[in-house]
Amino acid sequence: MKFSAFFVSVALLFAVSSARPSGLAARFSAHQGRTSRPLANATNANITSLASDNTEDLFSSNWAGGLLQSPPTGQHFTDIGGTFVVPTLEGPDGAMSAWIGIDGGPNAPQSILQIGVDCYIVSGVNYNFAWFEWFPQNAFEITNLPVSPGNTITLRIQVENNTTGIITLTNESTGLTVSGEVAAPNDDAALQGNTAEWIVEDFEQNGELVPFASFGEVVFTDAAAFTGVEEVFASVGTAVDMEQDGLFLAITTINENVVTVQYA
Ligand SMILES: *[C@@H]1O[C@H](CO)[C@@H](O)[C@H](O)[C@H]1NC(C)=O
Ligand SMILES: *[C@@H]1O[C@H](CO)[C@@H](O)[C@H](O)[C@H]1NC(C)=O
Ligand SMILES: *[C@@H]1O[C@H](CO)[C@@H](O)[C@H](O)[C@H]1NC(C)=O
Ligand SMILES: *[C@@H]1O[C@H](CO)[C@@H](O)[C@H](O)[C@H]1NC(C)=O
Ligand SMILES: *[C@@H]1O[C@H](CO)[C@@H](O)[C@H](O)[C@H]1NC(C)=O
Repeated sequence: MKFSAFFVSVALLFAVSSARPSGLAARFSAHQGRTSRPLANATNANITSLASDNTEDLFSSNWAGGLLQSPPTGQHFTDIGGTFVVPTLEGPDGAMSAWIGIDGGPNAPQSILQIGVDCYIVSGVNYNFAWFEWFPQNAFEITNLPVSPGNTITLRIQVENNTTGIITLTNESTGLTVSGEVAAPNDDAALQGNTAEWIVEDFEQNGELVPFASFGEVVFTDAAAFTGVEEVFASVGTAVDMEQDGLFLAITTINENVVTVQYA
């Protein structure tokens, strides 16, 4: 993982908004109230429909991707990075999100510090929003980093202490970086540094899962976390597959520091 690359870019303080751009707000009134959730277990996974490589995966109704379920003994995850290409959605109206985060797995369900990109398709047109969220607070949109399908984006989270972190998004096409410090909504949301993850999510709006859109695939490269002592590749963790109502919606494979999530 090329962590040093982050420090040579032009850094801009990011601008955030919890309100949505007015033009789009009309189209996506439902984008208000958007939130990510900790991993929810799937209850109805039919593993006989899976390839043998995936039968030991973890099954979730809202997450697919790579999950480091615990840090090396005596350590905590304090840093995570990853790069992905914003997918082009196809088919009926729907949405999905791609993000990286610390905590939120079964070993740390009370909070998540996460940063990513939401992808929507509405009447065949793709729309994207960059955002961060310190769950349980709702997401904030990062308004000064326009994102489009095909953009290569590098994400990074650096935890300063358990209620403060630095989030950074870099557009690899231009080297332009947007970065800023974020704080936990309250002390109960203090990070434990127990899980780290690279996730495609069926997120929630107004308390309901959004219709999950067909995204082809999302490949997180340079998917590594850091504890301050050592670097941990995604492959040390668990592949998570998304299943709802007995159907798999997304299947994950992990190879060293590359996490590939495919729409099923
Ligand atoms: C999900 O399943 C795991 C392992 O089976 C369990 O440890 C965890 O408590 C479950 N989480 C929830 C929210 O039910
Ligand atoms: C599970 O998947 C297999 C293979 O796709 C299929 O034949 C079977 O009917 C499924 N079982 C259930 C309960 O859906
Ligand atoms: C990245 O830069 C390219 C080239 O200027 C631009 O087209 C694209 O919108 C940018 N993407 C992001 C996420 O800033
Ligand atoms: C956490 O770090 C931030 C930024 O450096 C600092 O303002 C804050 O006081 C620290 N909190 C604690 C509890 O140390
Ligand atoms: C967060 O850090 C403070 C010390 O700065 C500590 O008292 C607290 O227990 C920590 N919380 C968690 C969840 O680790």
